[in-house]
Amino acid sequence: MDQNTKKQKVAEAVLDYITNGESLGIGSGSTVNILIENLPKVKNKIRSVVSSSVKSTELLQAHGFEVSELRDVGKLTKYIDGADEVNKDLQMIKGGGGALTREKILAHASEKFICIVDDSKKVHTLGNFPLPIEVIPMSRSSVSLELIKHGGRPVLRENFISDNNNLILDIHNLQIMEPIKLERDINNIPGVVTNGIFALDHAHILLSANDDGVEVSELNA
Ligand code: A5P
Repeated sequence: MDQNTKKQKVAEAVLDYITNGESLGIGSGSTVNILIENLPKVKNKIRSVVSSSVKSTELLQAHGFEVSELRDVGKLTKYIDGADEVNKDLQMIKGGGGALTREKILAHASEKFICIVDDSKKVHTLGNFPLPIEVIPMSRSSVSLELIKHGGRPVLRENFISDNNNLILDIHNLQIMEPIKLERDINNIPGVVTNGIFALDHAHILLSANDDGVEVSELNA
C-alpha cells in the first residue's frame, strides 16, 4: 500500500472517534488535509472547530465549516493532527509544515490528542527528522549557538515565515533520548517561541496505517 493510500485510510478511520457535541481542534499537513476533505461526513456531530494554521482554516471553510477562535471555544474535547515522528510513548516531533506553535497551543487546550500517521512516522528514538524550532527573528543566531551545544546542526528554513511572522530553525543530528527534558531545555532559551518536541503534550491515541490496516495504540494515563 503506498503512503498516500495509508494517509487516506487513517484519515477515514479517525472519523469513528468523533462523537456528538465535539469541540474539535484540527492540525495541519497532508494527512489532516485528507481528514478535512472527509470531515463533512460527521459535520452534525461537531459543535465547533478550531484550526492550527491558515492553510487548514481555508480548507475547512472550503468544506463548509465555520472556524471558531480558541478564545471563544475554551477547552477542546479532541485535537486531531499528524506528526513527523512518533515513538512508543506517543511523544512526537511536529512542525514539518511550520505550524508547530498553534498546533502546540491546541494540543495543550485539548482533553485528548489523537495522532494520525502512516507507519513510516513510527520511530524508536526521536530526532532523525530535523527538529523544527520557531524563533523570534532577532534570536536566530543566539538560539542556533545554544542548539549546537546540544550537538545539533541548525539550518534556517529558507524562504519561510511562520503564521506568527517568525523564523523556523530545523535542527539536524539530534538523538532525543530524553524528550521531556530537551523540550523543557529548549523552551528555556530566550527567543524560542516553540519547539517541535511534543512530549509534555504527547498524544493519547495513535492511529497508524500500515499494509494490513489501521493500528491503534492508546496510553492508559
Ligand atoms: C505541521 O506543522 C506538522 O506538525 C504536521 O503535523 C506534520 O508535518 C505531518 O504532516 P503530514 O501529514 O503531511 O506528514
